Amino acid sequence: MTLFRLIRIRGIGFSRNILLTATCMAITLPWSTPTVADQSATLAISCGAVGKEYELCRTGVDTWSRKTGHRVTIVTAPGSTTERLALYQQLLAAGSQDVDIFQIDVIWPGILANQLIDLTAYAKGTEQDYFPAMMANNRIDGRLVAIPWFSSAGLLYYRRDLLEKYGERVPETWTELQTTAQRIQQAERAAGNPRMWGFVWQGRAYEGLTCDALEWVASYNGGAIIDARREVTIDNPRAAAALTRAASWVGAISPLGVLNYGEEEARGVFQSGNAVFMRNWPYAWALAQSDDSPVRDRVGVASLPRGGEDGVHAATLGGWQLAVSRYSRHPGLAADLVMFLTSPGEQKRRALEAAYIPTIPALYQDPDVLRANPFFGQLYATIVHALPRPSAVAGVHYNRVSSRFWNAVHGVLAGKQPAQPALEQLARDLKRILRRGRR
Ligand code: GLC
Repeated sequence: MTLFRLIRIRGIGFSRNILLTATCMAITLPWSTPTVADQSATLAISCGAVGKEYELCRTGVDTWSRKTGHRVTIVTAPGSTTERLALYQQLLAAGSQDVDIFQIDVIWPGILANQLIDLTAYAKGTEQDYFPAMMANNRIDGRLVAIPWFSSAGLLYYRRDLLEKYGERVPETWTELQTTAQRIQQAERAAGNPRMWGFVWQGRAYEGLTCDALEWVASYNGGAIIDARREVTIDNPRAAAALTRAASWVGAISPLGVLNYGEEEARGVFQSGNAVFMRNWPYAWALAQSDDSPVRDRVGVASLPRGGEDGVHAATLGGWQLAVSRYSRHPGLAADLVMFLTSPGEQKRRALEAAYIPTIPALYQDPDVLRANPFFGQLYATIVHALPRPSAVAGVHYNRVSSRFWNAVHGVLAGKQPAQPALEQLARDLKRILRRGRR
């Protein structure tokens, strides 16, 4: 459905024509490349386009092209990870050769493994340079189906200047956040900014809401939807309390429109100076600090609040990997480009230019990286111990599990149903889905 909408909007046909949306370095289109052309081949990579992603991907790819003489086409992908998965699944299900390299979400290796090549031989032992948990996440049935490109974790952004102005501290708990947000929102509105809001986040019914809601639930010690033994744990009073609280923000400290916000909508409000707090990923830091940002040098970053005194600071683990399609005509070359883009040099460049979180521990000791991103050092533990979504235990069913979760949460936030019955129903649905086994 989403895919068709996407295609209709762009006025293009399916599969090979999707490349018409791409910015091409080459005049030759990939499907007219001679099959024996590994000496001067054309590859296609699908990279994200949120924030500075596209620009950074292009520079990395250009460097590899200059080094090797091969051409690379960049295929843009939808900003929403949910729409993107639908698109990639359609392309892969059709055995499309139009995309050689896919940028895949940390939650997808189990879903897409069968259509991706094993990169072990191409990694040549460099696997040990990366965070072991991230590598393990990309190894499905012993096959290394992707290399971690950048990591991510949910963070709290706050307006340092406004907290100082009102003598408030960075909130430790959600109650504190709510009180501070309410107070500053009211005062700033009275002082002449009617568009000021207390807190913006990702409330649209999509994967981003799963990330935010998992943080709320986990911060109240309400578990991670499904536990490591594949038991559904979401139907519990702490989870219900967390969701009830979040629902109370909508229309009070968060605009009603938050129910349709993704990452970029939240950033738009915060970066234009109209929110006190924002939940977002690290990429938003470099943009908030950019030369034309109205909030430049007025922003701080902290761990997300705890769910009460006995709660914890929870951050959902995000991040993206690079993988090679098993339908690629040039798997060896594509793997070489993947290894180049995920190498320490490229990851350092991306961290310096746009705050992309490295997947290589050694880079967290690098003084240049720490200077450009002061919060990397401060929040190292948050980033490294971020909470994984239950994609490994749910296997191929993860997207179905997550969509049930985000829809249930969205209903609670929109006031359609109280949290407790919504979670009871959700738990029943999830048990039914998981009964089908991992694959
Ligand atoms: C970010 C994260 C990704 C997550 C997505 C949800 O892109 O890196 O893991 O699924 O946000 O919107």
